[in-house]
Formats: sequence, structure tokens, C-alpha cells
Amino acid sequence: MSFLRPNILASSGYVPGEQPVDPSVIKLNTNENPYPPSPKAMEAIAGVTAEQLRRYPSPQGKLFREAAAKLHNLSPDWILPFNGGDELLSVAIRAAAGEKDAVAYLEPSYSLYPVLTELQGARAIKLQYQIDGTSWRLPEGIENTSAAILLIVNPNAPSGHLNSLERLSQIATTFKGLLVIDEAYVDFAPTHAIDLARKYPNVLILRTMSKGYSLAGLRFGYGIAQPSLFREIEKVRDSYPVDAISIAAATAAILDQPYARSTWEKVKSERTRVSAALRGLGFVLPESHSNFVLATAPAGITAKTLYETLKSRGILVRWWDLPRIADKLRITIGTPDQNTRLLEQLSRILQDPH
Ligand SMILES: Cc1ncc(COP(=O)(O)O)c(C=O)c1O
Repeated sequence: MSFLRPNILASSGYVPGEQPVDPSVIKLNTNENPYPPSPKAMEAIAGVTAEQLRRYPSPQGKLFREAAAKLHNLSPDWILPFNGGDELLSVAIRAAAGEKDAVAYLEPSYSLYPVLTELQGARAIKLQYQIDGTSWRLPEGIENTSAAILLIVNPNAPSGHLNSLERLSQIATTFKGLLVIDEAYVDFAPTHAIDLARKYPNVLILRTMSKGYSLAGLRFGYGIAQPSLFREIEKVRDSYPVDAISIAAATAAILDQPYARSTWEKVKSERTRVSAALRGLGFVLPESHSNFVLATAPAGITAKTLYETLKSRGILVRWWDLPRIADKLRITIGTPDQNTRLLEQLSRILQDPH
């Protein structure tokens, strides 16, 4: 394979969470919304015409842009759609970091960042979260990192904790490169950083329709940033990154705020119940502001054993054999029934691990 770049050959690529075909599996491993998308999104898909498919779609996803801009009280050129949030990340890294530059990201954080950095052939600066019991803190001085791009997930994955807007604002003021604030899970959180994008020309906010809007299968995300940044970023994107069907569905979904918000409220109320029940079983977990929790296994059993035993009983959660999180399970909040079944199984396994 000498005809490919060495860094591609050296990379093991991203390993996505399992997507089982068996519909009876309780799938709490990839942070999907457990509720279906808005019925209006489904109607919009059914309403797509042959003429819409015959023609190329709007390169900027015009209708979606207008709907999202209205929601966020911005003008449409502050919104740029992507083929999933992951495409935004890939484009941002390609736009900002040349082969001699550095990409900075936190650890533990979204496991796609190291892979995209490797594929780009850029240098990685790995900044370590300061973890003390259930407290996760951004390290001091990260705003002085000499990286071309700094990626911060907020609320963080996989911990679910929320960094304060004050801290993010300090970073945005001082950091010299492109600051991506990855708000993939913001719909389940009390605060967001849109005001930082309004204020700082180097801030790019990532949003996705995969989690809050139950459209992971559609592949639709968007960025929020100043139009001057998007005029440059647009050159790096695919020419037509979002198709006519997904523009129609994502637009209908984002317009149906009452429906989406009703799913967020249900997830948040279950998050409170599941967190308390897990603590009751001896797990230790930071307060989550997301649609998942990161639970440290109780003494006497490993997270790996819990993960494997749950899997053998038809319940998928996420476990990584990685430093500082190998003793933890990341569990997506499901429907009340799914959560109850998870908790029942965990309780049984803890009473009798064999
Ligand atoms: C932290 C984070 N950022 C971005 C994404 C991208 O989401 P998508 O490509 O589905 O829009 C995800 C998806 O799991 C994520 O966890």
C-alpha cells in the first residue's frame, strides 16, 4: 500500500459503537435519543418530490439555515449545515491544521478527535482533564496552547459534565487558533455557548440533529459561527454536503421545537432517576448534563465484566479499554422501560456476578 500516505496506513481508524441488527437488543451505547423523530420530519420526507431529487440540493441547505437562524436569533449566514457533526469536525481540522500544525483536544473526550488528527497528519496535543472523584476540570492554561485548533466538547463526552461559560469565554479570548465548541449534547444541558460565537471570530460551535432531534440515521449537523469564518470553511466542505431529503427532514424537525423539547424533558427526568438508582447500587458518577451517564463500577467487579455480562443479556452499553475510563461504563439514557430493565440486570449482576 505504498501508494497511500503513511499516516493513513498507521491509523487504526475510528471504531464506532456497535449497531446490532437484532431489534430486541436494548441499545444504550451510542447516545441516540430513545424517542422517534418528530412526525413532521417523517411527513417532510414523504413529501419530497421527484423534482427535488432530480435537481442538486441547495449547497447551503437554505431552508434549514433559515429555520435554525430563526431559532437561534441569528441571520442565516451564521448557520452552515454539514453531513453530520462528524463532517464539521473533519472539515474544521482540515481547514485549520496543516501537516506541521497541532490539533489540541482534551482526554478523555470524543474518541474521533485523535483519529481525525492522525488522518490529517497533524500533531496531537493531548490535554488532560483533571479528574478528582466526580469532579472533572479543564487544566489550567489551555488557552495558551500553541495549536492551530482546539476542540472542547461541552457538555463533555463521555463524562457528561458541563464546563462553565466563564471558563470557555476565557479560553476564547486568549487562544490564538480555531476554537471548536462541540455542543453535540447541548439540548440536554442548561447553558450553551452561542454568545461566544457572536463575540469571537475564532469560535465555531458544533450542533447535531442526531441526539436532541432523534435523527442519527439522517446524518445532519450544523455549525454556528461568524459569516467570515464560514466563507472560508465552505471551501473545504463537499459541494453538496446535505441532500434534499435530509434538508427537508432536518428543517421540519428543528421547526417542531415543542416535540423535540418534550423528548429532552423525558430524557432529563429519566437521567435523574437512573443516576440516583446507579448511585444506590454503588456506582460513582459525575452529575450529567447530557443524555448519558459515566458510571464508575462499584468495588468488587470490573466495568469490563459488567459490560460483557450486560451484553450477553441483550443490553448494550459502552466500555473503552482506555486510560482513566476503563473502570467506567457510559450508559445512554433510554426509555423508562429500557432503563428499568438495565437497572434490574445491573442489580442482579452485582448480587451474583456469575
Ligand atoms: C462529542 C460528539 N461530537 C460530535 C458527534 C457527531 O455527531 P453526528 O456526526 O451524528 O452529527 C458526536 C456523536 O456521537 C459526539 O459524541
